Amino acid sequence: MDPLIQKAIEARKKSYSPYSKFAVGAALETADGTVITGTNVEHVHHGMACCAERTALFTAVAQGHRKFKRLAVVADTQAPVTPCGICRQFLVEFNPHLEIIMANLTGQTETATLDQLLPKAFRP
Ligand code: THU
Repeated sequence: MDPLIQKAIEARKKSYSPYSKFAVGAALETADGTVITGTNVEHVHHGMACCAERTALFTAVAQGHRKFKRLAVVADTQAPVTPCGICRQFLVEFNPHLEIIMANLTGQTETATLDQLLPKAFRP
């Protein structure tokens, strides 16, 4: 298994998702090979939840990273989980060609570039 997926699986275990009970993990690989992980964090005001992908991205940016190569995302879904629209739009800000590895816990994966997932994105 790709080690990036393994790191996303580990991050998923820290999910704070008492409302949806849908745990998600993400692992973002920077241009220098650093891997920064994230998980979804929910709130009693349900609409305020932050996805695993954005948690990873915000953490990475806060640590000084701005160049990203790959992102792995994993959840316990039948088919590999796909990033939501808000996360796609946020990731496009940094790299429209980012490789997105979508996975589930049974080992199924699907890979696409971000511009395939979000064509004609609104960009800076
Ligand atoms: N979620 C993610 O973390 N990533 C996705 O790509 C889809 C949705 C989270 C947000 C919320 O905590 C829960 O999954 C249910 O929508």
